[in-house]
Amino acid sequence: MGVTFIGCGAAAPAKIVSNDALSKFVDTSDEWIASRTGIRQRHLAEAGDSIVSLGAAAAQQALAMAGVDAADIDMVLLATSTPDDLYGSACLIQASIGANRAVAFDLSAACSGFVFGLVTASQFIQTGSYQNILVIGADIHSRWVDWQDRNTCVLFGDGAGAVVLQAGQQENLLGFELRSDGSQNDALHLRYEGTNIELSDDVQVKQGGFGRLMMNGKEVYRFAVNAVPDVIDKALFKAQLQVADVDWLILHQANQRIMDAVADRLGLPPEKIVSNVAEYGNTSAASIPIALNAAVRSGKIKPGDTIATSGFGAGLSWGAAILRWG
Ligand code: ACO
Repeated sequence: MGVTFIGCGAAAPAKIVSNDALSKFVDTSDEWIASRTGIRQRHLAEAGDSIVSLGAAAAQQALAMAGVDAADIDMVLLATSTPDDLYGSACLIQASIGANRAVAFDLSAACSGFVFGLVTASQFIQTGSYQNILVIGADIHSRWVDWQDRNTCVLFGDGAGAVVLQAGQQENLLGFELRSDGSQNDALHLRYEGTNIELSDDVQVKQGGFGRLMMNGKEVYRFAVNAVPDVIDKALFKAQLQVADVDWLILHQANQRIMDAVADRLGLPPEKIVSNVAEYGNTSAASIPIALNAAVRSGKIKPGDTIATSGFGAGLSWGAAILRWG
């Protein structure tokens, strides 16, 4: 069986915080953020928002566009690194949307999560195991950044996006390439931090919570502009396509400068870049499906268009997929 992409959706918290509003509580400026990253504003989750509420809203939109009933979904795959519950949030989304037959689980691969999720889900369709799969990318990094660290907190926003994959006669996942390099983990991480607790003379455990997101921005930048064109090239080769066949480039929306540099290295004209980083900032696993959703709903991306997409981030992890929309 082939994989087809038949619906998409997105959701973001109602609260919008502009760079100017941010500079009232962080030592920064609209000029610095916009010139270094292209970001103008971000949506930030408030008390009532959650991975489940945002993920379910995006999923319902995607199902409506696809014309698929939630009861006909076989799998809910949630890419997130910021779940509401350490045991995962996919099951609660499954219950919330009424996808009662579906198996549901989380996949954690930071900003590569959506691409890794899309490829993972596709395997279940290509083997003939499942017919309809919902892949959701959702992250709420505002709960995990250090709001005293202007190097990182200004970059992130919150949101969710979703895509419905369906088994079809045509194969629209044309090629992919996924990579990881744990030796570079120090460049970007959000680690468990516990303190030792003595339960008895010879039993000691560690308890605590997770710390705050730490990133060496320059290293991640260098990594992204080198690694992303390489995996896109390899995925195109597997798809037996050339750069000239790509209609749209949808990269993880981390920084406009990264998107421009990657397009330039590939030899893709800037008008093929799909970008919404100005409006949302870096929404991690949600950024690609949020950008895809806006481009599809505005009519920019049409059925049959060829999309090169790539996620990259913590792990370090990165990957690319070439797909035909529809
Ligand atoms: N406002 C004002 N000044 C700032 C801010 C800020 N928000 N942040 C940093 N600065 C200052 C720094 O202190 C530094 O000052 P100094 O020279 O006096 O020390 C100066 O600005 C320059 O900082 P640089 O780090 O050189 O800025 P750069 O141009 O490299 O941009 C950025 C930084 C935007 C973080 C860039 O490196 C980047 O985008 N990196 C990639 C991040 C990324 O893509 N992450 C993706 C994965 S996220 C995930 O997986 C969860």
